[in-house]
Amino acid sequence: MSNFDKLKERADNVLCQTYARYPIAVKSAKGGRLYDFDGNEYLDLLAGLAVMSLGHCHPEVARVVSEQTHKLWHVSNLFYQEEQVALAEKLVATSHCKRVFFCNSGAEANEALFKISRRYQQKIKHKDAHEVISFSGCFHGRTMSTLAVGPEKYREGFLPMPVGFTQIVRGDLAALEKAITPATAAVIMEIVQGEGGIYPMDPEFAKGVQALCRKNGVLFLVDEVQTGMGRSGKWWAFQRYGLEPDAFSLAKAVAGGLPMGAMLCSDELAKAFDFGSHGTTFGGNPICAAAGCKVMEIMERDKLPQRAGEMGKWALERFARIQADLPGAIKEVRGLGLLLGIDLTFPGKPIWEALLKKGFVLNLTQDTVLRLLPPLNIERADLEAFAVALEEVLRAHQA
Ligand SMILES: Cc1ncc(COP(=O)(O)O)c(C=O)c1O
Repeated sequence: MSNFDKLKERADNVLCQTYARYPIAVKSAKGGRLYDFDGNEYLDLLAGLAVMSLGHCHPEVARVVSEQTHKLWHVSNLFYQEEQVALAEKLVATSHCKRVFFCNSGAEANEALFKISRRYQQKIKHKDAHEVISFSGCFHGRTMSTLAVGPEKYREGFLPMPVGFTQIVRGDLAALEKAITPATAAVIMEIVQGEGGIYPMDPEFAKGVQALCRKNGVLFLVDEVQTGMGRSGKWWAFQRYGLEPDAFSLAKAVAGGLPMGAMLCSDELAKAFDFGSHGTTFGGNPICAAAGCKVMEIMERDKLPQRAGEMGKWALERFARIQADLPGAIKEVRGLGLLLGIDLTFPGKPIWEALLKKGFVLNLTQDTVLRLLPPLNIERADLEAFAVALEEVLRAHQA
């Protein structure tokens, strides 16, 4: 039995079988590379689903985490903690949103968005508003309320859903105008729909959504869980669109691979989260927060948001050349910064498998979209190596 088969058998015996896992057991990782138990090396173009934006085991982050484990691990949010405050100070310096609520994951950060929206409307504005509107193709997490705003396929067997969540077609401003009623508390949007297939929002539509929200006293929320922390080419994807949401969520890359999420909001909105109104045991844990401070320091120092924008632009142009050279294989290449999608004209599993065999780890979403979310410090030569491999695999598939 191979090392992989042995581990798979153990996993199959004890873990809930919720994930369609890759046929790889990762033993270790360094920078942009993964290593399996048989010593094979893979180029990681997925970065733990947009989490490892500095690459794996970054030595400066590792040092800070290690030092922090000798200082303070956890005391709960009953106490002031320097690391948490320092990270909040760094986060509020990146945008117009000046208040932070820390939690542990993306879904939980979105829960905080929904909760603060309802509470603001009901307790501060004294309105009977509770409904949250989302857009088709979105993904906001796997808790009950994030399922209720998300894709229908993930709701199967989990009914009934919590009430007060509605979805309309992405891009249809007239439909949004019609859907907004006095019961509407907020609208939530991903600037680039990630899981949905790397669909950047049309900028005019996104601006129209913000304007409609403002006009109707509805809160405008942005989910930056996947797009955030520099991946789009700026700290936050809404900044690439010139938008100013009332609040936004983040998670994934913030603590360099340790579990952390956060909700950032305006001072005005923060009035709704008064004492006792919301909370979590682990949110803003000092180890995660210390890691987060170092991650942000490195991102700033190495100008990684800017680099992501430039590298992403280069990659899109490179993939478009493959599209032109191999007519009929690629329907569209899409993306923003280092959120990259290559939409094939056919189901992409054989292409994904062939690339994995060649040592390239990426993701297949919506059946046809090869999704790349590489570390923000990826070398151009690595993206070029992927492009060459992709072209080879597509040619072989066409032959
Ligand atoms: C845009 C977006 N929002 C929310 C989530 C949920 O985050 P988490 O899995 O940390 O709960 C994800 C996860 O992929 C995501 O991509």
